[in-house]
Amino acid sequence: MSKDTVTLTDNRSGKQIELPIHDPTLGPSCIDIRSLYRELGYFTYDPGFLSTASCRSAITFIDGEKGILMYRGYPIEQLAEFSTYPEVCYLLLYGELPTRGQLDEFMGIIREHTMLHEALRNFYSGFRHDAHPMAIMVGIVGALSAFYHDSTNVHDPRQREISAYRMIAKMPTIAAWSYKYSIGQPFIYPRNDLSYTENFLHMMFGVPSEDYHPDPLHVRALDLIFILHADHEQNASTSTVRLTGSSEANPFAAIAAGIASLWGPAHGGANEAVIRMLEEITATGDVKPFIERAKDKNDSFRLMGFGHRVYKNYDPRARIIRKMCHEVLAELDDNNEHRALFEVALELERIALEDPYFIERKLYPNVDFYSGIILRALGIPMNMFTVIFALARTVGWISHWNEMMQDPESRIGRPRQLYVGSQPRDYQPIDLRGD
Ligand code: CMC
Repeated sequence: MSKDTVTLTDNRSGKQIELPIHDPTLGPSCIDIRSLYRELGYFTYDPGFLSTASCRSAITFIDGEKGILMYRGYPIEQLAEFSTYPEVCYLLLYGELPTRGQLDEFMGIIREHTMLHEALRNFYSGFRHDAHPMAIMVGIVGALSAFYHDSTNVHDPRQREISAYRMIAKMPTIAAWSYKYSIGQPFIYPRNDLSYTENFLHMMFGVPSEDYHPDPLHVRALDLIFILHADHEQNASTSTVRLTGSSEANPFAAIAAGIASLWGPAHGGANEAVIRMLEEITATGDVKPFIERAKDKNDSFRLMGFGHRVYKNYDPRARIIRKMCHEVLAELDDNNEHRALFEVALELERIALEDPYFIERKLYPNVDFYSGIILRALGIPMNMFTVIFALARTVGWISHWNEMMQDPESRIGRPRQLYVGSQPRDYQPIDLRGD
């Protein structure tokens, strides 16, 4: 901690207080305002946490101005090029890249947990046939706490670790089964001789009557999407997991809350919204009206997949995914519908990045802008896009939850408010309230 302080003068009372400054290893320093209410009787007001660090964390670093993203200090570009999703999971959970032996042991444990308790199958048939897979995810993940009681003691580090293994291992099975249920196909059980990502594709697209062999480029593309979505510091869903877990709720319940938060179109739901938008643009054949609508303050339409709370520069994940789009789509015919969509996306990006509205507001493509194009080309239906985001983000959520549970400064999350409601008033019997 630095010895520097910020002096705050209350011009109403003339009182002055010194607030300590905490220096990070990277990024802006933080003013510690914990004594503010006690000393001056004020709360701070920061809707949407524009200037508020809610915790200490050593997992992920983002420099939004420069477009930098690092997991445990490793640049995302290097992880995207050289690593695999299981290795990234280990890195996020334990803080270091694994040795070969550590990775083999880790994956051995993950494989032991890939199946679901058989009774969980029954939960799927309770959903309507056309339920959104994200609704199923929230339900099934929340229900895990009813099955795995031996890993819900949040104060036991070993139980926390087992719950992390379970969640990372079971999420592909839960996700793939939510898809199988929606199309009326039999559930496909995990195969532990396959890699993490191959196994997910096997459970998504395999059928009992035929062998299924995923295209190696598709496996690599999906693994890359998993890596790029694995963590993103204190975003809405991760903060939701932390807030839920801060009451000592069990980890399955906390992750179910994170999945619910991710679902919104301003967060993980954007990848689905992007494709709907690109399809609409492709159908009309003209990008410009959509740009004009996005700029019109009287129209609620936004360019989906554009803009970010933290990135005021190109989202580094979008750049990596855009490159992978070229690779995946190069395999397809020239007149392919996936290519047509990608070309519309490139055109939209080109026009937006030359437009003063987007330049002034520093609005660039984010991770969701191009990810849906790859997922669609892999044959993954649109309503599964956010599910895939949730699958990949699970390791980030659980790493943050675990970090919070070990942090001696953690307390139950309990924000205060700027109350703007009624002054005190007396209850009136209903007959005296008029018509
Ligand atoms: N299209 C048009 N205008 C936009 C957009 C957009 N996509 N995004 C922001 N703006 C404008 C906004 O109207 C505002 O303009 P003004 O200053 O004139 O009022 C300005 O840019 C700042 O926007 P904001 O809403 O205050 O920014 P925020 O940090 O609260 O919101 C965001 C960030 C990601 C929710 C927002 O940019 C957005 O809605 N983008 C579209 C949805 C999207 O792609 N979400 C995925 C985010 S990345 C992955 C993830 O988190 O899951």
